[in-house]
Amino acid sequence: MKIFSSVVFLCLLVICIASCAKKTTPTATVIAAQPKASLVINIEEGQRIYQASCGRCHRLPSPAEFTQRQWTPIMDRMCRKARFTENQKANALAYVLENAKAI
Ligand code: HEC
Repeated sequence: MKIFSSVVFLCLLVICIASCAKKTTPTATVIAAQPKASLVINIEEGQRIYQASCGRCHRLPSPAEFTQRQWTPIMDRMCRKARFTENQKANALAYVLENAKAI
């Protein structure tokens, strides 16, 4: 009987220690967000690509034909048509906005 109770005691002790053992929290896998490659704006390059590409389907519009506010959505549409990369678009947009109609 004494042996039996000490076995029970030992079992309880083991269960207690096991349940009190520090739970290992699953370590979250942190996927570091890739920093977006920063765009280097080059207005001269923007002018070059604008003049080379934006007259392909229609006459080349002058940047002064539209205001900055008008150009922004137009460039969103047209740079897609011209299949510009993100950087080419940023350059062309910078050129256009620089030379856009005042108001
Ligand atoms: C693949 C052919 C194509 C290319 C390349 C292209 N365009 Fe266009 N563009 C069009 C078509 C088609 C229209 C008329 C329909 C429309 O507005 O979507 C148009 C219309 C326009 C208009 C008149 C929009 C308006 O709202 O009055 C402007 C301004 C313009 N394009 C500028 C550009 C510029 C700037 C580029 C260079 C980034 C460019 N386009 C490249 C096909 C093209």
